[in-house]
Amino acid sequence: MDETTAQSGLSGVRARFAGRVAVVTGGASGIGRATAELFAVEGAAVVIGDWTVEAGERVVTGIEGRGGRARFVRVDVSKRADAERLAQAACETFGGIDILVNAAGIGLPNHTVESTEEDEWDHVLGVNLKGTYLVSKYAIPHLRVRGGAVVNISSVQAFTPLKHNAPYAASKGGVLTLSREMAIDYVADGIRVNCVCPGAVYTGLTEKRLALEGKTRADIEERFDPRWLGRTAEAVELARAIAFLCSDDASFAVGGTYVFDGGGLLRR
Ligand SMILES: NC(=O)c1ccc[n+]([C@@H]2O[C@H](COP(=O)([O-])OP(=O)(O)OC[C@H]3O[C@@H](n4cnc5c(N)ncnc54)[C@H](O)[C@@H]3O)[C@@H](O)[C@H]2O)c1
Repeated sequence: MDETTAQSGLSGVRARFAGRVAVVTGGASGIGRATAELFAVEGAAVVIGDWTVEAGERVVTGIEGRGGRARFVRVDVSKRADAERLAQAACETFGGIDILVNAAGIGLPNHTVESTEEDEWDHVLGVNLKGTYLVSKYAIPHLRVRGGAVVNISSVQAFTPLKHNAPYAASKGGVLTLSREMAIDYVADGIRVNCVCPGAVYTGLTEKRLALEGKTRADIEERFDPRWLGRTAEAVELARAIAFLCSDDASFAVGGTYVFDGGGLLRR
């Protein structure tokens, strides 16, 4: 076992992120959590920025228990001071930032523009779009120091929105375009920015939506067309894609929009 895999507490695992520091928003649950855990397994020190304290601290305890390094910072990504504090915490604890994954997000199903109240619009756009802007704003000066990678999480709904999902779809369209803008602005600084658009992934977000509709996982799995993959994804399947884009294996990937949806866009 080499030094880096020894640090992660695992043998035989390729430590692509040894010596790197990764900030993951939304790292207490779902796609963010799976990504934070994968980074840690592959040698990164991980800073989880999330609103949910207990779940976030559990993720940190789990990573530390496997010999990794992690810190939880409670933040509301839609608040300027919190975003700034997250970047500062990463630098104070681990000495810089090499990777940023903006995965914090919320949904608001069953809302048209008419039925969406102004505060609901501001909340969804505030977390999903403004949060991506704010966390990036304070992390990028640190990413510039050593060069690095950013992945923003949009959604297939940026291309083909679901009915009655106005604020969420709008926020994810914004994240996609913002990612391309960031890619152009920072490529000369050695920062690669890319955007990941998941289809249906089974996470806390999905569970909440199903609960609102009185449905279970089996109900959504049923509606998938077996000609394509015909199922929802597990969070780790997205984490592997995100980790690839943040790794040196993706050294020529800049400004890309990557759909991971089991063929769902083709189906629509
Ligand atoms: N699950 C899916 O099917 C799916 C599909 C496409 C895109 N996405 C996107 O992937 C990302 C991750 O979603 P997920 O499915 O893992 O959801 P999740 O609910 O499992 O995780 C989201 C995390 O974000 C955190 N969060 C919410 N508001 C926050 C705030 N204001 N500040 C800080 N943290 C906050 C939550 O506490 C939670 O830990 C989101 O941007 C979501 O829109 C998810």
